[in-house]
Parts: sequence; C-alpha cells; structure tokens
Amino acid sequence: MGFIKKRQKNFDEEIEKKLDKNNVPKHVAIIMDGNGRWAKKRGFIRTLGHRAGMEAVRRIVKASSEIGIKYLTLYAFSTENWKRPVDEVNGLMDLLIEYLGREVNELNENNVKLNFIGDLSMIPEKCRIKIKESEEITKNNTGLTLNIALNYGGRSEIVRAFKMIGSSLLSGKIDLNDIDENVIADNLYTSGQPDPDLIIRPSGELRISNFMLWQSAYSELWFSDVLWPDFEKKHLLQAIFDYQKRNRRFGGI
Ligand code: IPE
Ligand code: IPE
Ligand code: MG
Repeated sequence: MGFIKKRQKNFDEEIEKKLDKNNVPKHVAIIMDGNGRWAKKRGFIRTLGHRAGMEAVRRIVKASSEIGIKYLTLYAFSTENWKRPVDEVNGLMDLLIEYLGREVNELNENNVKLNFIGDLSMIPEKCRIKIKESEEITKNNTGLTLNIALNYGGRSEIVRAFKMIGSSLLSGKIDLNDIDENVIADNLYTSGQPDPDLIIRPSGELRISNFMLWQSAYSELWFSDVLWPDFEKKHLLQAIFDYQKRNRRFGGI
C-alpha cells in the first residue's frame, strides 16, 4: 500500500472509531450523481464517468458492510434517465452487466444480498438475466442488503402500489378501511425494509429527483459537492458522523 493510501486508511480508521456504534443508520440511500461532470472536467466521454462511478460503488458497498449498515440503496437509473442519448443508456446497462459479472462472487463471499428495485420489465433482457442470476446467488445472505434502484421512480412506485391495492380491493381481498400507511408501505419495492435513515446526494445538486418519495418522509438529508466518482469511505463516514449529531424528532419535541 502506498504512503498516501495508508495515511487515508489510518484517517478512516480514526473517524470510524469515533462513530457511535449504537447509532449507525440502518438504511442509507445514495443518489449517485456527478459522473457526467467528473468526465467532462477531464475531457472524457460521459460513459467513462459512469465507469469511474462503478469503482465508487465498489468502495462504498465495501465500506457500508464494514461500518455495519444493514441496507444500502443506490440510485443507479431513474425512470427519467431514458431521456438521455441512447448510447449513454446502453453504456450504463452494459456497465451494470460488467459490474455484476465482476462483483457477484465477492459480494456473495461478503454475505451481501442483492435486491433490484424498479420496473425491470423495461430493462434489456441480457441485463435482466444477469440481475436475476445475481439475486438468486445472493438470496440467502444475511449481511448487507444492497438495493440497486434501476428504472426506479418514486412516483411510478406509488402508481404501482395504487394498482396492486386497487386490484386487491376490486377482488374483495381487502376492504377500503383496511388501507392504511402499512398497506401502502407493504406494496412498495422496499416492502419489509426500514425507511432510509440517511439520504446522501453528492455532486452539489440539492434535490430528491424522484427518489424514495414515500420512504423519505423522515430521512435525514446530507449533501456534498464531491462528485460520485470521487466519493470515498471518508465521505460516507463524515455523513454518518454528521447524522449522529442530528436530533431526529419525528414531529415530537
Ligand atoms: C450519474 O451521474 C447518475 C446517473 C443517472 C447514472 P450523471 O450522469 O447524472 O452525472 P451529471 O449529473 O451529468 O454530472
Ligand atoms: C438522479 O440523477 C438519478 C440517479 C442518480 C440515478 P439525475 O442526474 O438524473 O438527476 P437530475 O436530472 O439532475 O435531477
Ligand atoms: Mg446528474
């Protein structure tokens, strides 16, 4: 290990020691943004930014396991991202196949459970096959649950829940008065999972961009100017450190 890397590792270990182990967020969600700007700054094509973003995914998944986070949700592709040039979209799908091919064994060895959320029916078949295969390989793992949000949109997720609940209503499986917040939560992609405690958005944008609209009701938000490909364990540690200083009141006093 080089000197600079070693110094960074010691630095990370120092912050990690200062974390309150009893107050690690159970669920961290990240809007991975800034790949395009990272590439532009270097005169690269955008796809190279996404490739560098994939390396950040590797680092942050590993770091999240080490810190003891139970659920990590990564926003990889939104329902609005189809507006991008077809080459960029195809490049992203190919990168996902590459990532899963390269990483699934290591994720499995590290007890990570992969779980894709979003409307996968629109995802190219070769990609979907790889997704199903990776979910199958890791399905019994009990460590970190890694949600990858792909063709995910918070509004489309709520529309889907409406349809599922409406169909139970029409078939008489449930009664109108049975519908409550739990029923809605149970019909979202994240059914059975805790809401994100902490939502992180790098790259300087201060918006949610259709991410986890229902689940984020009481999430703590953390923003940073760092572009996603530059995101490192130290940034995640800093976000958690700041999170631990927040006073979550959930409407109380
Ligand atoms: C990655 O960053 C987010 C994805 C949709 C994959 P962007 O590609 O949005 O990067 P910027 O915002 O153009 O810098
Ligand atoms: C949000 O980033 C979507 C993902 C990170 C997958 P965008 O780059 O698409 O968001 P906007 O367009 O800046 O709101
Ligand atoms: Mg962006």
